[in-house]
Amino acid sequence: MENIQKTDQNQVNTMDNASKNNGTPLLSLKNLHVWFELKRWGFAHAGYVRAVDDVSFDLHRGDAIAIVGESGSGKTSLMKTILGINRPIKGDIFFDGQSLSELNPRQLREFRSKIGFVQQDPYGALPPFMSVRRILSEPLIINGIKDPDEREERIRKVMSEVKLNPVDDFIEKFPHMLSGGQQQRVVIARAMILGPKLIVADEPVSMLDASVRVEILKLLENLQHSHDLAVIYITHDLSTVRYFSERIFVMYAGQLIEKSSVDGILSNHLHPYTDALLKGTSEPDANNAKIFKEVPPGEPPSLVNPPKGCRFHPRCAKMIDGLCNVEDPPEFEPAEPGHLTFCWLYKQNGHES
Ligand SMILES: Nc1ncnc2c1ncn2[C@@H]1O[C@H](COP(=O)(O)OP(=O)(O)OP(=O)(O)O)[C@@H](O)[C@H]1O
Ligand SMILES: [Mg+2]
Repeated sequence: MENIQKTDQNQVNTMDNASKNNGTPLLSLKNLHVWFELKRWGFAHAGYVRAVDDVSFDLHRGDAIAIVGESGSGKTSLMKTILGINRPIKGDIFFDGQSLSELNPRQLREFRSKIGFVQQDPYGALPPFMSVRRILSEPLIINGIKDPDEREERIRKVMSEVKLNPVDDFIEKFPHMLSGGQQQRVVIARAMILGPKLIVADEPVSMLDASVRVEILKLLENLQHSHDLAVIYITHDLSTVRYFSERIFVMYAGQLIEKSSVDGILSNHLHPYTDALLKGTSEPDANNAKIFKEVPPGEPPSLVNPPKGCRFHPRCAKMIDGLCNVEDPPEFEPAEPGHLTFCWLYKQNGHES
C-alpha cells in the first residue's frame, strides 16, 4: 500500500472531472449483468457464462474513458450491450436519461444511430464489394437522407475529417485497395457520419502496424474534442491509453476492479491485478528483452463458475485467507477522491464509497 501517494496532477484531474460532470450523464450503466446461457445437447440448461457481472459507471458528454482488461474479461460483451446488441439479464443502461430496456425495436434502431462503433478488424468490418462512397451512403439512406447531393456533401465532409484526403483519391475505392490504416479511417468515418454523441471503439488499433496506431488514436482524440464526443476506448494494451483517455476502468473476469484517472492508474494504482497488468506492459526498450517479468501465476478464472469472493484471489500474492476467498470486496476509495478499487487490502485505510 506504499504506492498510495497524492499528486497535484491527480487533484487537478479530479477537479476537472468534477466540474465537467455536472448534470445527467450521457450514458449510465446500473448494476449491469450480461450472462450467456450454456446449453447441453443444444437444449438442456448447463449454466451461464457471466461475461459482465455487476458493472456500473457514468459517462458524461465529451468524456473519454478506456476499459482495459485481458482477453476474455468481458470487454466486447459490455460494448455490445451498450450498443443494444446484447440484452442484459439484470441491471439497465440509460442513454440521455432514457432506459434502453423501455425502447421498442424502432426506438432501439434510432438509439443505435446515436452511437458510432469502431471495431478491431477494419477489413472484416467493411463490405468488400462496396466502394467507400457506397459504404458511407448506406447509414444515411437507412436514416432517411433522400437527397443524393446532401449525402455526397456529408460523405465528403466526414472523409476530410478522418483525413482521407484528397477525397477524390479514395471515394471510388474498394476496401481491398486501401491500407489497414486507411480502412480504419473509413470505419471511423462510417461511425461518425450520423453525428453520434458517443463512439465505442473496441480494440481499434490492435490489428494495425505500430506506425499507424498513434495516428488513428490521435484522430479519435481530435474528433472527440472537435465534436464534444464521449468515447469508450476498449483495449487490452495499457500502453496506448495515454493518448486520449481521461479515466481508465480496469476489467477482470466480468467486473470492473479499479476506476481512476489515467495518472492514478499509471502512477498510483491500487489493485494487485492492475499491478500485474502494468508489469505485463512493455515499453519499447532494448533492455526489456533481457528482463523476465514477474506476472501472477495461473489463468483467468472460468466465467461459468467464478471463484467465490474476489475473482482474482487464486492468483493474488496478497490474498487474505478467510476474507478474499469468502466475500465479494466492496468499492473502496483509499487514495484520491474518485479513485476506486474493489480490493480487501484497503479495508483498513480505505472508506467504502
Ligand atoms: N454470444 C456468446 N455466447 C456465449 N458466450 C459468449 C458469447 N459472447 C462472449 N461469450 C463469452 O464471454 C466471455 C467474455 O468474452 P468477450 O468477447 O466479451 O471478452 P473480451 O474481453 O472482449 O476478450 P478479447 O480481448 O479476447 O476480445 C468469454 O468467455 C466468451 O467466451
Ligand atoms: Mg473483445
